[in-house]
Amino acid sequence: MYRTNTCGELRIANLNQEVILAGWVQKARKMGGMIFLDLRDRYGITQIVFNQEANADLCTQAEKLGREWVVQIKGVVAERFNKNSKIPTGDIEIIASELKILNPSETPPFTIEDETDGGDELRMKYRYLDLRRTAVRSNLELRHRMAFATRSYLNDLNFMEVETPVLIGSTPEGARDFVVPSRMNPGEFYALPQSPQTLKQLLMVSGFDRYFQIVKCFRDEDLRADRQPEFTQIDCEMSFVEQEDILNIFEGLTKYLFKTIKGVDVADFPRISYADAMRLYGSDKPDTRFGMQFVEIKDLTADRGFGVFDNAEYIGAICAEGCAAYTRKQLDEITNFVKRPQIGASGLIYVRYEADGSIKSSVDKFYSQEDLKKWIDRADAKPGDLLLVLCGKTEKTQKQLGELRLEMGSRLGLRKKDQFNCLWVVDFPLLEFDEELNRYFAKHHPFTSPKLEDIHLLDTDPGAVRANAYDMVINGVEIGGGSIRIFDSELQKKMFATLGFSEEQAQAQFGFLMNAFKYGAPPHGGIAFGLDRFVSIFAGLDSIRDCIAFPKNNSGRDVMMDAPSVLAQEQLDELHLKVELPRK
Ligand code: AMO
Repeated sequence: MYRTNTCGELRIANLNQEVILAGWVQKARKMGGMIFLDLRDRYGITQIVFNQEANADLCTQAEKLGREWVVQIKGVVAERFNKNSKIPTGDIEIIASELKILNPSETPPFTIEDETDGGDELRMKYRYLDLRRTAVRSNLELRHRMAFATRSYLNDLNFMEVETPVLIGSTPEGARDFVVPSRMNPGEFYALPQSPQTLKQLLMVSGFDRYFQIVKCFRDEDLRADRQPEFTQIDCEMSFVEQEDILNIFEGLTKYLFKTIKGVDVADFPRISYADAMRLYGSDKPDTRFGMQFVEIKDLTADRGFGVFDNAEYIGAICAEGCAAYTRKQLDEITNFVKRPQIGASGLIYVRYEADGSIKSSVDKFYSQEDLKKWIDRADAKPGDLLLVLCGKTEKTQKQLGELRLEMGSRLGLRKKDQFNCLWVVDFPLLEFDEELNRYFAKHHPFTSPKLEDIHLLDTDPGAVRANAYDMVINGVEIGGGSIRIFDSELQKKMFATLGFSEEQAQAQFGFLMNAFKYGAPPHGGIAFGLDRFVSIFAGLDSIRDCIAFPKNNSGRDVMMDAPSVLAQEQLDELHLKVELPRK
């Protein structure tokens, strides 16, 4: 028997029991005639004691042990003299009587403790060692519990998990595909699914009216803290449902996860239209842990000779509570923030509503105190508050103001990691116009159903058509999104035409789906959650990487396996591939 107990299990109630533990040496320290060893496994840490006086030979053996050696120890549970209240096993220790070295270890490249000395690259290269650390391991444990609870909730509601293939044709989700060459079909490629979107719709045609799958998806897109090239979706689809049914079931799933995993009761999710989200927060995934909603002041600024405002399509303000006393330096910092190329504002205008009721602004030359007071009243500002104003093209400026709002929320400590604000964003536009390519794209994907009452606008004003599409947002993160689908092949054809597909192109790419719709497709709709993002929110992580066992770095590389890598010439030949490297 390798062990009778784990390293996280023994308590005072186990006093005097003889036990066998196995695990990794976290650290060993010598004090007088004693050696104290912290033995670690997945479940915790237990202190082991070797006593020179009681067993000199054993002590000599124990002296050899280094960090991360794998050992087995037999001994008796004793009460500790110096208790450690920081760990659950801190009241006891094991007085060792036998020690077996199961495997020595080289000195690890970084110390495997909660506060490690390993930089990011080093920890990623030796990810299997990083995963021994409690902080990282507990994120994976949380992930497991969330996936398990999700399966249980959905299973209870008759959802059936069906696996869909990973080698498929291209699915149009807006990102680039990862492709796999086919040896048996020279010159032809599979694509890895960006999501199982079309396949789950086909399962609806097959009659599996409640499908789900916890599934890997692949997207070749620029990486950010909340994006990985391969990530996991909780992917779901249902037949004979309307938007309301889907929102209810998946609001239920989210509440169930919060309750069972975190013990948190979350209130019913507010719903906000896409248009309102943009108007009030400048984002389709508003962080509603704090207010600071936008106010528009264009109508209050006209005819004072300030050309910048007069020429602006939109002028919006936010009120930063208690910030009137911001120093020049602080104002410069936030001005520089909005001027960064990623945000792209040309400048920032401020109005200080001083504690004594006086008003000072960066546009005092153009606007009187009475003028400025009107802005202040519209923003419902109180003495001591600071108004921050941006202007320009409507959509662009709203987005910039949205970024500024988030920045101010962070600066003011209003984005607390232990507060959870969930909401639905609904009524997304069906289409999005790309100025550069001069054509419409599907905002969600081409299978999303327009709202029935808006269908007539498809020919005349496609940009105004709203979709039966929805996103679930928690704390400013898009956790999930979905839609009611088109299930009529004629409407689907029309949609492809609006998106600029010729009939031949549509048939070549999506013929299989449109054909399937001819054989009795039920009304259906669905949603997919990003599991990595969901877990990150629950764990309060800044990056989804920390809840993925073996993530890629920011250049999409697996630094541990050193992937991607070049292929041997024979392998390329077999796949009929010729590789020409771009000239440096
Ligand atoms: P969508 O593209 O909105 O919808 O994706 C659903 C959810 O997946 C997560 N997600 C990601 N997570 C990590 N890294 C990425 N690169 C990444 N991309 C997306 C997000 C997102 O909300 N087939 C549709 C769903 C449907 O209509 O049913 C789809 O994939 O949390």
